[in-house]
Formats: sequence, C-alpha cells, structure tokens
Amino acid sequence: MSGLSWQAGPMPTVIQLSDTHFSTPGHRSHGGFGYDTDRAFERVLVDAGRNGAMSSADLVVVTGDIVDRGRLDEYAVAAEALTRLPVPVNLLPGNHDFDLPLRVSMPRPGVGMDRTQRLDSWLFLYADSNHGGEVFDGPDRLSADGALGVAEATRLGEMIEASDADHVFVWMHHPPGVPGINRSVTLDAEVGALLDSHPTIRGIAAGHIHSDAVLEVGGRPVFVCPALTINFDFSQWTTLPPGYRVYRFADDGSIESHCHLLEDAEWPRYRLPEPAVRFFRAELDFDEMLGQLGRLDPAELEQVDAP
Ligand SMILES: [Fe+2]
Repeated sequence: MSGLSWQAGPMPTVIQLSDTHFSTPGHRSHGGFGYDTDRAFERVLVDAGRNGAMSSADLVVVTGDIVDRGRLDEYAVAAEALTRLPVPVNLLPGNHDFDLPLRVSMPRPGVGMDRTQRLDSWLFLYADSNHGGEVFDGPDRLSADGALGVAEATRLGEMIEASDADHVFVWMHHPPGVPGINRSVTLDAEVGALLDSHPTIRGIAAGHIHSDAVLEVGGRPVFVCPALTINFDFSQWTTLPPGYRVYRFADDGSIESHCHLLEDAEWPRYRLPEPAVRFFRAELDFDEMLGQLGRLDPAELEQVDAP
C-alpha cells in the first residue's frame, strides 16, 4: 500500500485546513467578496500556535480548493505558505484545483499528496470527489457536483479491505449529506454505499461549502471545515470569519473535533443580503446574485455579534 506510515503520539492529532483559495496578490475569490487568504493563513498559524494545536499536531490536512483559479502562479503562493508549516502536510484536490498545475507544483518536501496513510490504529483515506479526477481542467470543473465515480469508490473499498487498521477516516473535498444547493445526490448515494459496506469507517472530513458544520451520513459524522476565505452560517444567514478544525483520533475509534473560527474585528459577521440568501436557496444563479449584490451599498450591510 502506498502512503506514509508512522507511529504518532498517544492520540494522533490533525489540523484540517480547507478551501485555502491561495491566489496572487490583490485577487479576491468569490466575486471579490473573498477574504485576504494570505492574512487568514498567517492568523491560523498564530492562533494554532497560541492554543497548542500546532505543537501537538502530527499532520496538517488540506481538503481541497488549495488555490482559487487552478493557476500555476497561485500554486507557487500556496507552496510557499504550506512549506512553512512545522508539521507534515497532506493535501487533496477540490473543484478549484486544476489537475495539471497541481501535479506540476505538488508534492514537494513537507507537502504530500498521499492517497492513504496509517497513523497507529487508523487508516486515513484521501478521496478525490471530483469524480475521481475525471472532471477535466476547465470552467466545468468549478461548478461540477461532487462525486466519487466508480473507479474511486472501488479504490476506497479495496484500500479498506487491504488494511488491517481497526478504524478508517476519509478525507475529501465535497461533503456528503449536505442540504440545499450544495447537495449531490450521486455523492450521497456513493458514500452511503461505502459506509454500509465498511463499518470500520468512523467518520468523514470535508470542506467545499465554506461553513462550520457537523453533518451525519449513515450514522457517521461528517465534519465540515471552514475556508480561509468567505464562510457562511446557513442557520443564522450570516457570514463567518475564516477558521480551521483540530481532530484527535482515539485508539477506541472515537473522534474529537473542534472548529476554531478566527473571531476578530478584521472579519466581522454580516447578515447575508437577500440576493445571497436567495442564491443559497437555489432561487438565483451565481451571476444573478452577483449582479444584484453589485447594486447594494456596502454601508447598508448589517453587522451582527457572534452568538
Ligand atoms: Fe472553496
């Protein structure tokens, strides 16, 4: 089996970053509403240093959308940032990652793209939810629904069967079990079948929807990690600051996961304007939303306190 294998500390500890959307200076993701991801990355380093997460971490996992537009110069920015992390990094692609520039740029020393890893009694599987890599580079990839595809779903099952690990954890970009516009019926069915066939899968971690959430599929938790760029609270209909997740994987198969949002005056929470809410309710498409947002006076945005 390919992939790194090592004895971690008493309880393997992992920091998850997702949707880092690294880009070139001055570019802002998401129609210009995205945050300064370089700044957010530096703040994660400080925050995870202060609370001890970084010094106790065995690994940092980045679950896709490493860069914003799949460009080679954006991967240079991502590589410079990720290679500065003091622990090994493993990453997988999201729908904003284009295969060819990603392969040219990664892996590199300290930043891997392993598809399987063994940490003590745990097997980590890294799934490509871009239809197993069969959605080719280009604009269609940006908007494609998440799916594993037959080859990737088969590979995941074979890796579990080939391993004597007591517990399995799956990392991917698109989360299954999401309501609303981000729902992929295909991915939900594929992951549901995988979970039914493999009771040793203890949980899944993903990103993509730019939110902090813990969902549930087939009796297993699906942890969703916020982005380093704009995030959303889909119950309060507000924006959220950038953030990250920390996991501890116990030998009995249980998982602790805590989300850390970078609460700061730099990233205040705003009530989502109506065009954004209508977009998430699938009543407007992305361009219609941007058109209507463009007519808004930013001074009218209502700032709200964290609950
Ligand atoms: Fe993203």
